[in-house]
Parts: sequence; structure tokens; C-alpha cells
Amino acid sequence: MAKHDKVLKEVLKKVRPTKEQRRKIEGLSRKALAVTSKIAKRHNAKAILAGSITRDTWMPDKNEFDVFVLFPESLKEKKMESLGLQIGKAAISKLKGEAVVEYAEHPYVSGKADGVGIDVVPCFELSSTEKLKSAVDRTPFHVKYIEKNLPFRLSDDVRLLKQFLAAHGIYGADAKTEGFSGYVCELLIVAYKSFINALKAAVNWQAGEIVDIEKFYSKDDYAKLRENFKNQILVLIDPIDKNRNTAAALSSKNFFKFKKYAQEFMANPSSEMFFPQELQPITH
Ligand code: UTP
Ligand code: MN
Ligand code: MN
Repeated sequence: MAKHDKVLKEVLKKVRPTKEQRRKIEGLSRKALAVTSKIAKRHNAKAILAGSITRDTWMPDKNEFDVFVLFPESLKEKKMESLGLQIGKAAISKLKGEAVVEYAEHPYVSGKADGVGIDVVPCFELSSTEKLKSAVDRTPFHVKYIEKNLPFRLSDDVRLLKQFLAAHGIYGADAKTEGFSGYVCELLIVAYKSFINALKAAVNWQAGEIVDIEKFYSKDDYAKLRENFKNQILVLIDPIDKNRNTAAALSSKNFFKFKKYAQEFMANPSSEMFFPQELQPITH
């Protein structure tokens, strides 16, 4: 058994949800979906689960799931936003939770019920990705793609990658983190088939690396492609939208950090690389 196998087994004991945690979040997500669907129906909308709950790649530490409310594309954007918030608030309240409004490209509801985080995000239901109005409208397509292309047996590899990145402060695509999103982690595991293979690949990445899972482009297109995605250190083409770089939020600094940590881990696998150093108590 390779040394890293033993380490990964140990890490998985900590990042894999327990039966209890699983029961709780799976039960609550089913309930949230039913409740949101019922309310959404009154407004000619539907609800789906999205993000890490759908492929069993959620982290017990984060303890959160995502519900998307899909509106017909004929609806005015302002109306979609206000109905989305209304439905989100009503659903969280029905689940006896607390809700706050968060602002991304569109406002959405972020709730907490029974100690679990629940995001309720409105978007448009589109017939094709050519009609996207905002980034969230891609999510229902992402759910379908991941469902089809990420087998459940790779869920643990996604968890290892998320934990490895989180330990080094580079998990998350928000403006503060400038790291790797959950979807990017799932795609990297789809592309490389395991956590270890993803790290091995990352060690060899060059600035401006192109990862094109669906092979939309031929190697002859790569120079042109790098021009189109200028100054983007990693170009991970979205399998559902060939004009989109899913890793656009990643900073150069964090790209090189990941490469360095990947190399360190491959040279000397240790479980400490997955867990931030605990602060030493000050004793003087
Ligand atoms: P999450 O950030 O919850 O990621 O976004 P995730 O894939 O479920 O991974 P973890 O395990 O929670 O970290 C879920 C979906 O919601 C959209 C993202 O595009 C993603 O598809 N989203 C999330 C937004 O559009 N805007 C936000 O502000 C947050
Ligand atoms: Mn999530
Ligand atoms: Mn979320």
C-alpha cells in the first residue's frame, strides 16, 4: 500500500460525514425540497436541489445545502428576484429556521434550520445555455452534468480535494478567497479520476493551463484560447458552456500555492497537510 493511501484513509475518517450527520442533512434537504416546491408551484416556479448535496460531496464542517428555485424565462428579472426572496423566506420559515438575504449577482436567501445552512437561490429555467442571463442560471445544467459524469464512488475524492484546499485557505471562489469552488473541485475529479491523480496533474500544470474535459477545442486552438482567457492562470472550460472558465476566480498566487502543496504532499504525504495547524497555547 502506497504511503499516501494510508494517510488518505485516515483523513477520510474525519471528512466523511457520520451516519447521524448524513441522516440529518439528507432528511432536512428532502423536506426543504418538498416545502419549497409546494410554495414555488403557486408562483409557476419549481424547486431543485443543487450543489454538493446532489452528488454527496458536502463537507460535515460546512453542513449546508442548496435549493434552487427555477422561474420561467419569460418572467421579468425584477419580478424573479422579488418572488425568489419571497419563496425563500417562506420556505425557511416553514422549516422553522432563520433567514437572511445575501447578495451575489442576484439577492438570495440564506437560512439556518436545525443547525444546518440552507441557501435558497432563484434563477431562470432555460432551454439552452446560450440564453444565460446570469451565472446562477448555469447551475441547473451543472447539476445535470455532475449527475451524469461524477460517479458516487468518487465523492470521497472530491471531499479530500475540498479539505486539502480548505486547509490551505484556498477553497472557495468568493472575492476574498480567490480559490477553487465546489464545482471546480468536482470537475477536477471528473477530469483526473482521483484525488491523487489531480494532485499529480497539478504538479505539472503551467501558467495558463487549459483543462478541457469535453474536448471542445483542439490543441491548435489553445494559443487563441489563452488570448480569450487573458491573465487567467487556470482555464477549466465549463463542460456545459465552452465560453466559460469555471476557474476564473482563482488568483495566480493561489494557483502556485496549490501546485506547491500538491508537490509537497506527493513527496511526503501527511495528514497534517489536511488540517490547519492548531494554535499552540501561549505559556509564559
Ligand atoms: P455552493 O457555494 O454552496 O457550492 O454553491 P457547493 O458546490 O454546494 O459546495 P459546498 O460543499 O457547499 O462548498 C452551490 C451553487 O450555488 C451557486 C453556485 O454557482 C453553485 O452552483 N451560488 C452559490 C451562487 O450562484 N451564488 C452564491 O452566492 C453562492
Ligand atoms: Mn453548497
Ligand atoms: Mn451554498
